[in-house]
Amino acid sequence: MHVSFNLAADLEAALKAAAVQAGLAEAAAFTPEVRTAEPKHGDFQANGTLGFAKARKLNPRAVAEQLVAALPVSLRSDYEITIAGPGFINFTLKPAALLAWLRTFATAAQLRAGAAAAHAGQTWVVDYSSPNTAKQMHVGHLRSAVIGEAICRLLAFTGARVIRDNHLGDWGTQFGKLIYGYKRWADPAAIAADAIEELERLYKLGHNATPDGSPELEEARRELVALQNGDAENVALWKKISEVSLAAFQQIYDRLGIKFDHHLGESFYNDKVERVYRELKETTPPIAEISEGALVVFHPEHPRFKTQPFLVRKADGASNYASTDLATALYRAEHFKADGIVVVTDFRQGDHFEQLFLTVRKWFAAKSYRVPELHHVTFGAVTGEDGKALKTRSGDVIRLKALLDEAVDRAFAIVAEKNPDLPEAERREIARSVGIGAVQYADLAQNRSSNYVFSWDKMLALDGNTAPYLLYAVARIHSIFRKAGIAPTDAAGEALATAPETPTEIMLARRLTKFPDALRLAGETLRPHFLCLYLFELAGDYSSFNNADKVLVEDAVLRARRLLLCARTLLTLETGLHLLGLRTLTRM
Ligand code: ARG
Repeated sequence: MHVSFNLAADLEAALKAAAVQAGLAEAAAFTPEVRTAEPKHGDFQANGTLGFAKARKLNPRAVAEQLVAALPVSLRSDYEITIAGPGFINFTLKPAALLAWLRTFATAAQLRAGAAAAHAGQTWVVDYSSPNTAKQMHVGHLRSAVIGEAICRLLAFTGARVIRDNHLGDWGTQFGKLIYGYKRWADPAAIAADAIEELERLYKLGHNATPDGSPELEEARRELVALQNGDAENVALWKKISEVSLAAFQQIYDRLGIKFDHHLGESFYNDKVERVYRELKETTPPIAEISEGALVVFHPEHPRFKTQPFLVRKADGASNYASTDLATALYRAEHFKADGIVVVTDFRQGDHFEQLFLTVRKWFAAKSYRVPELHHVTFGAVTGEDGKALKTRSGDVIRLKALLDEAVDRAFAIVAEKNPDLPEAERREIARSVGIGAVQYADLAQNRSSNYVFSWDKMLALDGNTAPYLLYAVARIHSIFRKAGIAPTDAAGEALATAPETPTEIMLARRLTKFPDALRLAGETLRPHFLCLYLFELAGDYSSFNNADKVLVEDAVLRARRLLLCARTLLTLETGLHLLGLRTLTRM
């Protein structure tokens, strides 16, 4: 017996084929639009009959009936099928089909194999975090790192080869002032103690010492030109600045479970911008033109960008953010052979990336380069509960390191209170997973396009759509298996399991079969909150099941049936939470 991983996709294909089979006119134009249904209507609903029938002046119920009759018998026997309202088709999985699905997808590897079709054979480059060097990461840097990592994991799970690229802001005019300050006031002891802190101080000193129009500013400019021309001393200094910055960033990445494959910052594209200028000018008609000495691209088809140019090379001949990003797109397409490129930044860079992608599409088409899928993944600002930018009490920006420390401390207090008997080391370990996980999950659980209201109380609550709630659900299932004296992955007992029977068993089983659709939705939209919502609903169904149906009963068959549901809930919760970048626990 063949059981499909994504049942909604399977029904979609079967209904399309049924339209042909039933001999419907223009069957090729029929899209069934199969969606996960409201639970009271069943598991899946096909809505496409309505639009299709209306456009052809047919009776939608009659069309629906023809379609259902033309479905293969094997599929019809897996579902209760009803035609509802004006002509929706509702599908409800029968208990035996639920059991077959749960048996087929029993391990993380099997889930992964089922999900891999979405991006199989594709290479995706994900550009995320990408902070500027010589500065601390602050709370504003949290979202790109957390959302970007979840997207990487989702893409990899759904079959893609993922290249994680940290596009550091490591080149630019700020290095003139920084080097100016460094050469005069650097304090070796302070550098040894906290290099980035010292670099921030030196940049401020350099900035204050070089007011506009001053000879000091000229001197800072000369430092920048020397660096750009490869002056040995300045290049060595710049390298050191990049190294200490990256080492500090790495401490944050370690805590968030992030490992980059590459750190190809802006400086890497220095020698690659000339080709961009040349190619943008040499196409017919040319994509870029000279305007007031600068090289610019207009997009006449666009309401704003027909007059607001994309500045590709400055009038003084220097490169800028646009030049390096154009070179970056080409490198990713040529060198990495990317099928898809995702860049994760805050929404304020929207115009830049819209102009960038418009330009890249025209440029690549003119040169007959293959155009990858291009996605700018944006997110809203992080605010306090008052809706204003999140600041420390003294009004400074909050450092990411301090924020993560506070999360772990707060989680530790909660764990210590709930579980005073656990050994100290284990409590620390739990606090780490819960604290960091709470911060990650709170960021991921809501639609990334909205502003994100940072609230310790909400993210650390043991109830609601939070990391502690989900991590606790996971730990609770582990404890059932400890009591039962078997491992959750021990398949031996599962042979006895029969199909779900009670309403809460059936509800839980039905929810489990929707995991593929949650993955699809989160992956297609690059929005991890769809996965969070699914996991939260799953945990809710599990909790109803657990309250209504005792698991560790005498009756061996009943016990096996319920332990099977526990095992698959655990598998799905753990897999889902790992995809979001969280670490799960077996005890809490
Ligand atoms: N360094 C930039 C910033 O801090 C983000 C870079 C994003 N990636 C890119 N290819 N432009 O805002």
